[in-house]
Amino acid sequence: ATDLAGRHLLKELDFTAEEFRALIDLAAELKAAKKAGTEVQRLRGRNIALIFEKTSTRTRCSFEVAAADQGASTTYLDPSGSQMGHKESVKDTARVLGRMFDGIEYRGDSQAAVEELAAYAGVPVFNGLTDDWHPTQMLADVLTMTEHCAKPIERIAFAYLGDARFNMGNSYLVTGALLGMDVRIVAPRAYWPAEEVVAQARKAAELSGARITLTEDVAEGVLGADFVATDVWVSMGEPKEVWAERITALGPYAVTMDVLRATGNPDVKFLHCLPAFHDLGTKVGREIHEQYGLTELEVTDEVFESAHSIVFDEAENRMHTIKAVLVATMARGAA
Ligand code: CP
Ligand code: NVA
Repeated sequence: ATDLAGRHLLKELDFTAEEFRALIDLAAELKAAKKAGTEVQRLRGRNIALIFEKTSTRTRCSFEVAAADQGASTTYLDPSGSQMGHKESVKDTARVLGRMFDGIEYRGDSQAAVEELAAYAGVPVFNGLTDDWHPTQMLADVLTMTEHCAKPIERIAFAYLGDARFNMGNSYLVTGALLGMDVRIVAPRAYWPAEEVVAQARKAAELSGARITLTEDVAEGVLGADFVATDVWVSMGEPKEVWAERITALGPYAVTMDVLRATGNPDVKFLHCLPAFHDLGTKVGREIHEQYGLTELEVTDEVFESAHSIVFDEAENRMHTIKAVLVATMARGAA
C-alpha cells in the first residue's frame, strides 16, 4: 500500500497521482465503515492543533469530527486565540506546537506560512486553505465525483466557472492535471490562474495525459462536462470594494440552468465548495442585494436547489477525506 505516514498536505502537487488516489480510496473505505458502524479507531491518544486565521464551518468541523471518530483530540486556535503572527513567529510557533501535537492544521492567507510551519514543526502539517490552494477540498471533490460518475477518474470532464485566480481555481486546475482529467477553466482572461500555476498544471498533464482548457467561452468550456463547479466571486480577506468589478466581470459566468443545459449532459452535476451566495439567507447576501439589486451571484438558487446539485454530498465528504488524511499520515503503521 502507499505509505503516507509522516507526510504533510500542503498542496496537491506535492503528491503523486497514485498517492492522491490512495487518499480517495481510504476515504471511501472510512466512509463505508462509519456508515456500517464498523469504524476502527487508529488515532487514539493523538492530539491535533487546528489553527484558523480565517473563519470556517466545514473544514473546522471536519477536522474535529474526523479526529473524534478516530479517537484523537483537537485544540482549536482561532484568529485571536494564538500568539502566532502577533507576538510569536511562525517558526517558533511551529517548534512549540510540534512538541505537543502529533499534527497541525493551518488555515490562513499565506501559503508561505503553512510551508514554514511544516518546515519546523516536525509533525505532519495540513493546509486547511490558503489564498493559493485548498487541497483538502480537492480530496472531497474528487471523492464526490467518483461517487456520482461511473467513469474512471481520468475520463471525467469538469468545468470550473468564475474567479479562477484564487485557491479554488488553482486547485481545480492542478488536481485535474495531476489525475489526468479533462479540466476546463472558464473565466474572463483576467481571472485565469497565474502563468506559473498554468505551467505547473501543463507539466503535470504531460505525465498524466490530462486535457487542459482555459477559455472565456462558456458554451465551449462546459460542452460535454460531467461536473460544473464554481466558487464565491469574492474570497475571504478580499475588500468589499471588489464586489462591483466582480459582478460585472463574472456575471456572465454564473452557473444557471442554461449553463447546465449547454453541457449537453442531462446528468450533469453541480459542485460548490460552499459557502455559496444563491439567496438572501445571509447578511452579506442582503448587503449585496441592497447595493446591487441581486439575489443570487455565482449560482442561481434554481441550480443550487436542483437535482443536479450535489453540494451537500461534497460537504459531507470533507469529513471523510480529512479523516483519510489524518489516518494516512498520523496512525501508527499508517495507510
Ligand atoms: N469549503 C470550505 O472550506 O468551507 P469552510 O470555509 O466552511 O471551511
Ligand atoms: N475562495 C473561497 C473558498 C472558501 C472555501 C475563499 O477563499 O474564501
